[in-house]
Amino acid sequence: MCGIVGYVGSKQAYPILINGLYRLEYRGYDSAGIAIIDGDLKMYKTKGKVADLENFVSGKDIKGTIGIAHTRWATHGEPNDVNAHPHYSESKQLALIHNGIIENYASLKEELIQRNYTFKSETDTEVLVYLIEDIMEKEGVPLEEAVRIALNQVIGAYAIVVISKNDPDMLIAARKGSPMVVGIGDDDFYIASDATPIAEYTKEVIYLDDEEIVCVRKGEKIILKTIKNKVKTPYIQKLEMNLTALEKGGFEHFMLKEIYEQPTSILDSFRGRLDAKKGLVKLGGISDYEQKMAKAKRIIIIACGTSWHAGLVGEYLFEDLARIPVEVEYASEFRYRNPVLNEDDIIIAISQSGETADTLAAIQLAKSKGATIIGICNVVGSSIPRTTHAGTYTHAGPEIGVASTKAFTAQVTVLTLMALRMAQMKGTIEKSKFHHLLYELESIPSKVEEALKVDEQIKELARIFTFARNFLYLGRGYNFPVALEGALKLKEISYIHAEGYPAAEMKHGPIALIDREMPVVVIATNKGTYDKVVSNIQEVKARNGRIIAIVTKGDTAVKELADYVIEVPETDELFVPLVATIPLQLLSYHIAVMRECNVDQPRNLAKSVTVE
Ligand code: AGP
Ligand code: GLU
Repeated sequence: MCGIVGYVGSKQAYPILINGLYRLEYRGYDSAGIAIIDGDLKMYKTKGKVADLENFVSGKDIKGTIGIAHTRWATHGEPNDVNAHPHYSESKQLALIHNGIIENYASLKEELIQRNYTFKSETDTEVLVYLIEDIMEKEGVPLEEAVRIALNQVIGAYAIVVISKNDPDMLIAARKGSPMVVGIGDDDFYIASDATPIAEYTKEVIYLDDEEIVCVRKGEKIILKTIKNKVKTPYIQKLEMNLTALEKGGFEHFMLKEIYEQPTSILDSFRGRLDAKKGLVKLGGISDYEQKMAKAKRIIIIACGTSWHAGLVGEYLFEDLARIPVEVEYASEFRYRNPVLNEDDIIIAISQSGETADTLAAIQLAKSKGATIIGICNVVGSSIPRTTHAGTYTHAGPEIGVASTKAFTAQVTVLTLMALRMAQMKGTIEKSKFHHLLYELESIPSKVEEALKVDEQIKELARIFTFARNFLYLGRGYNFPVALEGALKLKEISYIHAEGYPAAEMKHGPIALIDREMPVVVIATNKGTYDKVVSNIQEVKARNGRIIAIVTKGDTAVKELADYVIEVPETDELFVPLVATIPLQLLSYHIAVMRECNVDQPRNLAKSVTVE
């Protein structure tokens, strides 16, 4: 995880680095640090958030036009000042920041200790910077070559940036398995884990590929090569990123802003891909593979967390509409199994960040067995879309809140489009139904707009349940993944234990938990298994559980039973997750705010999980 930033040029580096860290803080936030060359190679680092680092350096006159900065999500060594990045080499001539894990750090460290090196931190990272310096000394090679040689000895994942006191106009960066973008300014360069710290300075970027090393010097051309020493021509891309998307825009938290963006982000995910009048669903990114997808005997969806929940909705959609059997797998499990795969299999990999290590590894495994990989990702240019055979971006815009909201509804929208397209190609849906669904999908943004109007009512509810210790979320059919997602949102940002369950499964165990202390959120919209869910509510009621029901506007039966009722607009059963998720996102948000939790940066979490 972690965020890294680097700058070299004619501007003062500190403001660029600290702003960059703020933009990347969603990636990790247990400690932060900066190294800057101002004659000397100076370092400032501290436990805590980027604001703590800013406080720590306040009053100090930090100058220099080259520097690197890091916001950490610890893997090796507790979050403290010493383990914070950057790390010096032993002579303090070099400083390095790292995102990832050096898996063979222990054996490398052992060798270096035997040669009398003394380590200051417990991190795997420090080993790498010592190794680089050791190679420079032993082999008498320049820094760029020493970095290359060192990376050939490293097992694991990394995005690194190194600077040297003796070469104060040069940044060296490399990646394998962790993301890295290089921004090209007029006579300067920016390096970061994603494009958000770069967007305000330049629109020209290069996304590094695995095992590539870049060497940039102020006012000079980029040198790009692989760690096997093959020189490459940099592919410069135009960055399309709206700066206002990176600000809170008047909202108290990014999460709330992102919840409210959903009418637009859902529209953006089907814009240009759906024309109800013409009966058209078109997904340009997968057009070369759609025949193969339509013929597939099965689809396997792989993802983690919220994206996995979107995958579950996808399962229902593909099976209902296109009659293609679907399996939904946790990427972290799939990658270590021995899955039976063949060349006819279609894998759909879903990821907001496009960087999730487990999802990437699962893709690689499936690819090695000949399967076709289709991606559904949000972050343009990230690693997953560059690994898949084809794919579709969700176009939800940058999601900064660690708890995923608009990315989920965008993923579900894209899965809906894919399933509809498959159904159309296979003829598994009647024309009239197909047209009806396209029109209905077009109306979803306005229905989500309407669903957001329950905000005040939810705030009241949040007040009542602020100090609940457990929550149960129940749903069936399309609402089962919604229940799982509602529970995950509450857990991650308010630290209240919550479980999502298929409503009917409750009687096989969790019903034992129900008493008058237990709030039970039931998603009981009026289609599908509605009547059965009403019976499940009765069962909870009979045991004194407190029911919060999400119902369709105008509902009467559930209203009589539930303690609290939240209405969402009516829509087709297939699209219910897009509207029913909204009140659950708001509920978790308001409870977390009332519990004074850090909504955008919940403890122990990070936005992109680039380690296993
Ligand atoms: C969502 O709220 C979580 N923070 C998390 O479960 C997330 O969905 C998961 O880590 C997958 O991330 P990805 O979509 O970027 O691959
Ligand atoms: N493995 C390194 C550490 O624990 C880097 C972690 C990160 O990516 O933030 O310090």
